[in-house]
Amino acid sequence: MRRERARVAVLLSGRGSNFVALAEACARGEVPAEIVLVVSNKPDAAGLERAHERGIPAVAIPGKGLPREEHEAKVIAGIEGAGAQWICLAGYMRLLSEGFVARFPHRILNIHPALLPSFPGLEAQRQAWVYGVKISGCTVHLVDVGCDTGPIVLQRSVPVLDDDTADSLAARILEQEHIAYPTALRLLLTRPWRVDGRRVIFA
Ligand code: GRF
Repeated sequence: MRRERARVAVLLSGRGSNFVALAEACARGEVPAEIVLVVSNKPDAAGLERAHERGIPAVAIPGKGLPREEHEAKVIAGIEGAGAQWICLAGYMRLLSEGFVARFPHRILNIHPALLPSFPGLEAQRQAWVYGVKISGCTVHLVDVGCDTGPIVLQRSVPVLDDDTADSLAARILEQEHIAYPTALRLLLTRPWRVDGRRVIFA
């Protein structure tokens, strides 16, 4: 039986390596999904170029100078126009409003480069390194209105080595992100699951 492929929009602001990891996993058939749109709030994001190279529709919707609701209305129009049912945030540097999140209930994912709830927010890898934790990693979670607070789908750990710098740790975490994000999306698309309180439970 051929599984229907889910239509996914990716929102990014930068280099787009997690977008590429998702796109490649979809192209290899490992994730039953198709990335139908990439949106960047930054017109010069390298991720847009990486989408063009792959023939994936990609648009810049700059947020600067626009009220949040107006910017979000444009992004939502793009997503709905592309028929996307799922949204993957991949280095998207804006918080989503309550209205945006409520429009796609439990259908928005984010990847964060630390083991949440430790080190939410910016420069998570550096935060973990400065704190001196011995294990860090990455987290894929459902998005709610908080900053990196939604229910956790999957985590992968990365040891912090004595000779690590914040950059070398970030590089090893990124390798794990590129495994974690497609794996989490595949799980959500192929297994029955539910959210019980804060917990994402797979049957
Ligand atoms: C990643 O570290 C991700 O965890 C964080 O932003 C970064 C985006 O990197 N949310 P890229 O643009 O996917 O390469």
